[in-house]
Amino acid sequence: MNCAERLVALFGSQAEVARRLRLDRAVVSNWVKSGYVPARWAMEVEALTSGQIAAVELLNEANARKPIRLKSRPDGESLFGSPLSGKDVMNDFAPLRRISSFHPPQRTLMGPGPTEIHPRVLTTMSQPAIGYLDPVFIEMMEELKALLRYVYQTRNPLTFPISGPGSVGMEYSFVNLVAPGDKVVVCRNGVFGGRMIENVQRMGGVPVVVDETWGEPVDPNKLEDALKKNRDARVVAFVHAETSTGVQSDARTLVEIAHRYDALTIVDAVTSLAGTPVLVDEWGVDAIYSASQKCLSCTPGLSPVSFSDRVVEYVKSRKDKIHSWFMDMNLLLGYWGATTRTYHHTAPTNALFALHEALLLTHEEGLENCWARHQRHHTALKAGLESIGLTFLVKPEYQLPQMNAVLCPEGVEEAAVRRTLLAEFNLEIGAGLGPLAGKVWRFGIMGYSCRPDNVMLCLAALGSVLSDMGLPVHVGDAEAAAHAAYAAMHAKAAQAKAKRAAARAA
Ligand SMILES: Cc1ncc(COP(=O)(O)O)c(C=O)c1O
Repeated sequence: MNCAERLVALFGSQAEVARRLRLDRAVVSNWVKSGYVPARWAMEVEALTSGQIAAVELLNEANARKPIRLKSRPDGESLFGSPLSGKDVMNDFAPLRRISSFHPPQRTLMGPGPTEIHPRVLTTMSQPAIGYLDPVFIEMMEELKALLRYVYQTRNPLTFPISGPGSVGMEYSFVNLVAPGDKVVVCRNGVFGGRMIENVQRMGGVPVVVDETWGEPVDPNKLEDALKKNRDARVVAFVHAETSTGVQSDARTLVEIAHRYDALTIVDAVTSLAGTPVLVDEWGVDAIYSASQKCLSCTPGLSPVSFSDRVVEYVKSRKDKIHSWFMDMNLLLGYWGATTRTYHHTAPTNALFALHEALLLTHEEGLENCWARHQRHHTALKAGLESIGLTFLVKPEYQLPQMNAVLCPEGVEEAAVRRTLLAEFNLEIGAGLGPLAGKVWRFGIMGYSCRPDNVMLCLAALGSVLSDMGLPVHVGDAEAAAHAAYAAMHAKAAQAKAKRAAARAA
């Protein structure tokens, strides 16, 4: 019996099959006459018969009776007359090399970002696409905003991810807050402070630059001096965690000084968010931006931002037109800010699913635990690096746990070490930028990349490569030092736990 006959036999009549599948009787009659059930009914039939007629049986039978044809008309026959020429003209533009699907290698990412991505985030990202105005998506957006408020430690209603990398978050902040002619004090102690100056200039603003030696934090006294001399400055901008050097500035103090002179603040938290404390409300930050691919360990291409009500009011009251359509906060408020959402641009839906999951992971771990994890692995990595004679660019009290810049020893070809680490150990570390190019290595332990196995692999690989290059490095010393640092931290934690238990029992 074929599947059509078996179906009728199972339910007693064609009429009953038709009733159960909510079809006209003539359709079922036609199946019986032609001797097969069309392939599109495979799943329904399997479900209706509780698997007695398996979808695959039906598909095989249907395909044998009526094979699926991929070409709807014979080769060379065109709806629009004869082909353009005898050969396939489209191929004139085809790549010369045969191209197959892309499969990236499995790398350990310990540079300045991007970081490795948690498997849960990768899985979430590959879920089916849905529309950016789908009610389910809109619900997810609300959760995303709530989770971002948690990582930023803020109640700012306007806290959301911008579609674009950290540089777009930076530009978004400047284009909305800086009108032509506005004076902006920019603190520069590395590459990214330099980019802020570029932004001010491009917005038609007037930058007042507070320069600091690379590797040093921004000096609050220098900022105050600049503000005393420029009492008409409207905005103060600085980088909280300077990725190019691995230094952390005192954001709380800098914001406090700016406010004393009635200036709004723009803070770059690209590398700090979720790696070290970022307390937007407590510090009173006005505008802040970050990036998805650093300590949040998400796919690159999203920039979480948060703006105080004071900023929103200021932007709403601007008389001039914001110099960017895409980044005009007033327009984007209709999509991310409002309760009734309207189209602004096509949101990168799957990347946003991924960010939702990455933030959820941070929330599940707990922000304080996340900060502590970065500090713990930094302590071990540092012990290992210093044990083989490497020195940090930044003084210990200003070192960022998630970004470690160390000086390349004299006589060592900096790039050759990175090349060998990548080729032989699948390990990526960062190079120096600007004046530090060729002089430092940058070891990032951010987000999901901040793990003991990565720290140990990195130290083992580096020890091996440096020793091969003839440096007086004893292979295994760095791992032993890191191991001792971990052991000391575990012992301290166990002692503290025992003390707490004793206090509770007393
Ligand atoms: C401190 C800082 N600001 C801004 C950026 C720019 O971010 P993106 O590369 O995502 O555009 C970076 C990137 O590394 C950064 O480290």
